[in-house]
Amino acid sequence: MSHRSNPVRLAHVDELRDPGARGFDPDGLGRDTLFVVRRGSQIRAYRDACPHFFGETQMAWRKDAYLNGDGTRIVCHAHGAQFDIASGECLLGPCLGQRLTPVEIEVTSDGDIVLAAT
Ligand code: FES
Repeated sequence: MSHRSNPVRLAHVDELRDPGARGFDPDGLGRDTLFVVRRGSQIRAYRDACPHFFGETQMAWRKDAYLNGDGTRIVCHAHGAQFDIASGECLLGPCLGQRLTPVEIEVTSDGDIVLAAT
């Protein structure tokens, strides 16, 4: 990701359902390249790139569909891999033990989720 001088605001915490996830395209590539997951007080962000299958497959089958039905795990809809929300580790599926690539974010005192300065 390119260097940015100003923090990039992704969303406000209240704009994410709990549990819920949203994809973002901060570099204006026309596709979501990262997603943010909220579950209770946990907020995590990962690259939208499954570690299975060359590590570049986008994970959601439709916009923002990154979680399983009950919102307990991240799912890649290509081949069904399931990932722990907190660690990004694959717990079930073809990339067992591999991890999603974390994206550093910060939550400001106003509740804005921003990309951490690089
Ligand atoms: S590309 Fe994600 S499970 Fe195969």
